Amino acid sequence: MPASNAWNINYLTLFFKRDLLLCNEHLVSVTMAEYDESWRESDLTVLFLSGAPLKNLSWEGIVDISTVQGQEKLLHSTILHNTCTQFPLDAEYRRKFLKKVIDAVESCNTEVCEELYTSYVDCLTEASTKSEFSYKSYYLHSIRKYVTLMESSIFLCSGTTGLTTWQGAKVLADWCIRNKALFTNKRIIELGAGIGLSGIIVVKSCDPLSYVFTDYHDKVLKILNYNVGLNFSELPVIHTDNSEILNDSLMLPSRFVSGRTDISVDRIDWTDEYGLNAVMKDSGVFDVILAADVVFEPSIICSLVQTLSNIMHVANQANTRCVAYVAVAVRNRETFNQFCEELTLKSFQFQELEISLPCMFYIDPIFTVKLLKIVLDTMKS
Ligand SMILES: C[S@@+](CC[C@H](N)C(=O)[O-])C[C@H]1O[C@@H](n2cnc3c(N)ncnc32)[C@H](O)[C@@H]1O
Repeated sequence: MPASNAWNINYLTLFFKRDLLLCNEHLVSVTMAEYDESWRESDLTVLFLSGAPLKNLSWEGIVDISTVQGQEKLLHSTILHNTCTQFPLDAEYRRKFLKKVIDAVESCNTEVCEELYTSYVDCLTEASTKSEFSYKSYYLHSIRKYVTLMESSIFLCSGTTGLTTWQGAKVLADWCIRNKALFTNKRIIELGAGIGLSGIIVVKSCDPLSYVFTDYHDKVLKILNYNVGLNFSELPVIHTDNSEILNDSLMLPSRFVSGRTDISVDRIDWTDEYGLNAVMKDSGVFDVILAADVVFEPSIICSLVQTLSNIMHVANQANTRCVAYVAVAVRNRETFNQFCEELTLKSFQFQELEISLPCMFYIDPIFTVKLLKIVLDTMKS
């Protein structure tokens, strides 16, 4: 079965379980404890809030849009879902989704409910003043909560690739949740963290001792810092005007706490050892290095591998075995091979890990994502 189908079926099963509860007249007799136990977010809601491609969103067999109640139910599990009203998805994405629903309702010669039209007009107005940033929310089944991130809708924006969540980040996060024990109680550093999905999920699910998010690009660091605060600040979170975040100056390192995990956001440029040395002086030795979708540009491979080497040698000197897990979306085979050759040159041993499918988060099946476990070959180094 293709991976994408398996993914959908997995979530459909969860949806039907919840839907039975919602539609069942006996719902009132279900105690809150039972209700909580059985509650699962629907596949449609999960896909919608994470901004999955509209072609993957289907309400067929789930809600009956030929009735006003069906249309309202669809609206409340997507556009008017609490998470979306609090942290709105891109207005153009919402507009296109509503257009798809309205077209479908009209094609069955049914009346379109007023709430649907009102929402469409609101999105139309909003979409005309397009904002660079909006939100995506990723559902974590283990804690039944959303991880919400401010993201750009453009892959290459302000001269960086770091303002959106890449495939590798989702695969890495998924793998870490399934292998939680490897990260619990560990001191973790992430390289090229972008806007933070993998790290935020690892902190929420795996209970590490410390987690240092790093990147080098000013704008990426500001959005990363905002996203970490959004998910870990003890203050109530509100939707913030992104110009405020981008115009404010950011003092690094910036620190947060989640349970017993010390979290920091800091700057490391792989081409400049000064940043790395300063972070290591501050945070000490690391047990784990994480990185997702950082192998995409041949010119930075050498410095990236050198950074891995520097962190691992410091750990080695402190008798700590540091392990790196690097998720690579293979867009160009030569770039991937170059990364593997550089690892061998710098005395690393590496192996490809098995990735479980379906992934918990929607991933575009176009690119193969490989996950490498990398350690220093201490006999050679
Ligand atoms: C394709 S993005 C991946 C972001 C994130 N890990 C993800 O998977 O969503 C690559 C990231 O590497 C960072 N990066 C690129 N060159 C870098 C360098 N020389 N030093 C540190 N980070 C760098 C970028 O700022 C960007 O955030």
